[in-house]
Amino acid sequence: MTAKWEKICNVDEIPSGTSKKFELGAMDILIVHSGKKFYASSCECPHLGESLEDGEVHGHVVRCNAHGYKLDLSNGKCLTEGDLEIPVFPVEVRGEELWVKF
Ligand code: FES
Repeated sequence: MTAKWEKICNVDEIPSGTSKKFELGAMDILIVHSGKKFYASSCECPHLGESLEDGEVHGHVVRCNAHGYKLDLSNGKCLTEGDLEIPVFPVEVRGEELWVKF
């Protein structure tokens, strides 16, 4: 399947320092607004698969509520356990709209 851009929401739906879950095809994705930039990733924690929907946002790092693993959405790396990664997706702001390539 080739990647394509999809409109997710308007930028004002995700205030600075927060995140929100969206359905994208068969997948749930998490959009994080760090204050400077938007980031998109899978909404599933790579540790044991819990949802990151209510995770704490610190800049572009999300902390999973289940066991506290930290995920850097700028590169998909897990900061807690180096072998783990989370899928991340390119984000573009087009006017008032947020688009994600997946
Ligand atoms: S499932 Fe996220 S830290 Fe364990």
